[in-house]
Amino acid sequence: MIKDIQQEIIRLKKEKDICILAHCYQTPEILEVADFVGDSFALSVEASKVHNKTVIMCGVRFMAETVKILSPDKKVILSNPDAGCPMAEMMDKEVIEQVKQQYPDYTVVAYINTTSELKTVCDVCVTSSSALKICKKLESDNILFIPDCNLGNWISKQLPDKNFKLLNGGCPTHAKLGKEDVMKAKSAHPDALFLVHPECVPEVVELADYVGSTTGIMDYAKQSDAKEFIIGTENSIVTHLQLSCPDKMFYPLSKDCVCHNMKATTIVDVLNCCKGTFGEEITLDDNIYVGAKRCIDKMIELG
Ligand code: 13P
Ligand code: SF4
Repeated sequence: MIKDIQQEIIRLKKEKDICILAHCYQTPEILEVADFVGDSFALSVEASKVHNKTVIMCGVRFMAETVKILSPDKKVILSNPDAGCPMAEMMDKEVIEQVKQQYPDYTVVAYINTTSELKTVCDVCVTSSSALKICKKLESDNILFIPDCNLGNWISKQLPDKNFKLLNGGCPTHAKLGKEDVMKAKSAHPDALFLVHPECVPEVVELADYVGSTTGIMDYAKQSDAKEFIIGTENSIVTHLQLSCPDKMFYPLSKDCVCHNMKATTIVDVLNCCKGTFGEEITLDDNIYVGAKRCIDKMIELG
């Protein structure tokens, strides 16, 4: 049944000149029909290179908006209109404009998990895989990092010469993982390496053998000589790694680390997007498009 759906998606992609981009948190059956799979940064770079008429973004809303900004002439479809990112919607433009008045000499660095509207009042975007490199390259030593205080904290620890101001935002899926989860997993799997996403809280990140983005974690696990790994990010990464490395063992840090927004898209949704009966076409106001593009272009230039 899934194979039949996948074959029909592949046929429709060719017939209608569709490109499917998928974030690594999507399910294996979606990754199998995608033209490109990656973390947030790699997806942004890929979005600017797409030649097809239509792009279906299997991920969450801010990712589809990023694709539209980088490929404005394409028809960009968000795979499921209900797939938002709670972190991206946590802070709005008006609040950040007020905070900026308190810190006029700070460069505003926005995690890409923000709305396009919010990006218009920021200086540069970053992703988990590009944040360190970009913050290091910024001329300013004063950085207001929004909205993820956990990622901001992890970057600030590696750049002690820069002054960071953090706000109290973050990813609810990653932030619920605690030190107790790490202790429990490590005592159950004492030989396993612990790989973690920087959206986790500092007490968890401090205990990691490796900290990195979703693809960073996957690359590390694939290349490592170790045989067992505890994975501190969305549990789809455990599934993907177990499929790609059957000779190694992967354990979730917690069975609760599931992003229901990332899981909102099903393979049937992708089929219906290809048919043109589901999904949401992304449109953006001109001023939002221009302001957010400046911030995303700067990220690609520096990252
Ligand atoms: P990366 O893809 O940059 O690792 O980010 C993870 C994430 O939470 C995306 O929403
Ligand atoms: Fe947003 Fe967290 Fe889900 Fe990523 S994992 S989409 S940051 S809620």
